[in-house]
Amino acid sequence: MQWAVATYDTAFGYVSAHGAPLIDLLDPRPDERIIDLGCGTGGMTVEIASRGAEVLGIDGSVEMVNTARSEHPNLSFAVGDAHDFSTGDQYDAVVSNSALHWMTRDPSAVISRVREALRPGGRFVAEMGGAGNCADLITAVQTAWRVFGLPEPELPWYFPTPGQYAARLEDAGFTVRLMEFFDRPTRLAECPDGAADWVRLYAPELIAEVPPEVAGPVLDKVNELAAPALRRESGWMADYVRLRFAAVR
Ligand SMILES: C[S@@+](CC[C@H](N)C(=O)[O-])C[C@H]1O[C@@H](n2cnc3c(N)ncnc32)[C@H](O)[C@@H]1O
Repeated sequence: MQWAVATYDTAFGYVSAHGAPLIDLLDPRPDERIIDLGCGTGGMTVEIASRGAEVLGIDGSVEMVNTARSEHPNLSFAVGDAHDFSTGDQYDAVVSNSALHWMTRDPSAVISRVREALRPGGRFVAEMGGAGNCADLITAVQTAWRVFGLPEPELPWYFPTPGQYAARLEDAGFTVRLMEFFDRPTRLAECPDGAADWVRLYAPELIAEVPPEVAGPVLDKVNELAAPALRRESGWMADYVRLRFAAVR
């Protein structure tokens, strides 16, 4: 996945903005050592550090980590794939906002890496897309692809039910303390081209597989199909569904 890092903070900074309840759930304490997994440009990392914790941001994207380093030069960031990262020391907590659903290769491997990074009693606190996330957007994409005779798009996300993710956590030896599953309609405030812009930012690999001459018409069709459900007078809303959980090693 190639992120549009330059536009990420401005157009889609809401990802970090919506992370506030997660930080409250994490409840970072001064002198705790915490990993922010899938930290992106470090928006949440810096919030956690401001509470006095020592934070290491890890992200699989070199571009994201470079931006995070230049925006927050006093914080620590590392490039690493969540499926196989390891740390020399054990941490008090691992937190992750809006990133676990991108880690599709083997979600259980990610959970087991997190467990290894935690001390006994350490916390894994995260928010991610849950089952049904962006269903209207995704249906519009799938239908538009079909209308244009394109192969079924291979979606780059893992959106589990609460039961599915809780089972993975328990299989890895975590005790699940909290598992919330809720709708979070989200305004695409800086998305003048609505659902089409959402696809451009979050699923550019899908567009890359479309012949260039039909990419524009296909995205117009996505907008046409998604508009009845997602376009309001005040602008476009994305039909986000979230899982938010806290588990203890
Ligand atoms: C939507 S962004 C969220 C960023 C940040 N947590 C925030 O709240 O703004 C998802 C992040 O997950 C990262 N990511 C995706 N797959 C990953 C993987 N396998 N290992 C590490 N990071 C990954 C991406 O590079 C991206 O920065």
